[in-house]
Amino acid sequence: MITITFILKDGTRQSIDAEDEANVMQVATFNGVRGIEGACGGFCSCATCHVYVESAYLLPPPAADEETMLTGTAALRTPNSRLSCQLKLGPALDGLVVRVPDVQ
Ligand code: FES
Repeated sequence: MITITFILKDGTRQSIDAEDEANVMQVATFNGVRGIEGACGGFCSCATCHVYVESAYLLPPPAADEETMLTGTAALRTPNSRLSCQLKLGPALDGLVVRVPDVQ
């Protein structure tokens, strides 16, 4: 089991134990995390799953298609911006903390 913590717009934290989800966007949308839409279903074509990675995790860098979509985020893109649908779940993500942006 992998635990992902979302920091919501109002500052509250929502921690979820993920079991069957494939990526962080699915963890959010399947568990009712407010502020992450995932409009394209995880096909890296909408940028409505934008998050800020808060914890100092060694994540693989964004692939070219994620980089392209990150140029179109509604909220300010920062160095720790990622598309949560591209963060595939695995043991390395256990304890990951992400902040939900103000807008998607
Ligand atoms: S869900 Fe559309 S880019 Fe992530």
